[in-house]
Amino acid sequence: MALLKLDRVTKRFGGLVAVNEVSLEIEQGELIGIVGPNGSGKTTLYNLISGIYHPDEGRVFFEGRDITDLPPYERAHLGIARTFQISRPFGSATVRENVAVGALFGTLHGQIGVEEAMEVADRYIELVGLTPERDKPAGALTPVEKKLMEIARALAMRPKLLLMDEAMAGMHPKDIDKLVAFLRKVRDEEGIAIVAMVEHIMRAVVGMAERVMVMHQGRKMVDAPTAEALGDQRVVDIYLGRPLEEV
Ligand SMILES: Nc1ncnc2c1ncn2[C@@H]1O[C@H](COP(=O)(O)OP(=O)(O)O)[C@@H](O)[C@H]1O
Ligand SMILES: [Mg+2]
Repeated sequence: MALLKLDRVTKRFGGLVAVNEVSLEIEQGELIGIVGPNGSGKTTLYNLISGIYHPDEGRVFFEGRDITDLPPYERAHLGIARTFQISRPFGSATVRENVAVGALFGTLHGQIGVEEAMEVADRYIELVGLTPERDKPAGALTPVEKKLMEIARALAMRPKLLLMDEAMAGMHPKDIDKLVAFLRKVRDEEGIAIVAMVEHIMRAVVGMAERVMVMHQGRKMVDAPTAEALGDQRVVDIYLGRPLEEV
């Protein structure tokens, strides 16, 4: 049974079909990259998986259960976590408190109190390398540190599926390589399936993803092992004739 299954989901905004009959299966522990030009439907697809949007057509399944009608917080309890394209931390709360919120609202929801949540938070803060920043207000972090905090918060939810929206945008290649290595380690150690959406950072896709899904005009155009997907002629064509690695 797939961890996540999308069965021909469609989402329209007025006359615009943002996501068009997309089917997708994700297994436990997979590392998947989602790429596609701006406006191709990637963020909308994430919103359909995390429950921010309800599809106009199609169904969403998680561990075999139909979750199409569940709100985002219930999906989070089941093990779907995400980071956002624009991170919105509680700026005056500390890094530790921000990450602890993840622990309280994830799969451990209802099973742990604030103190344990802080302990879970510390573990993931250490994993992403933010321990020296732990007691700073989140608002005082650099943009890269904010992204790392957001990832720690999502991991503190102890998810089974982590959706990362543009989590590496604006990062220095050195930081991207570190983050990619870190994500692979998290996958290996915790068996989490990770889907990373990256618009332009092929370095991250190639380094992290074992499988790549390419979105184009709301449709899933290609879904294949990374090397095969990036060499696909249709993919080369939508990226203006250049091999994807060079974009
Ligand atoms: N809330 C919304 N209301 C209206 N149109 C939207 C909304 N969200 C996304 N769209 C449109 O849907 C299409 C896909 O957008 P999006 O999923 O954000 O693409 P991507 O993340 O690949 O850049 C775009 O044409 C976008 O303008
Ligand atoms: Mg987007």
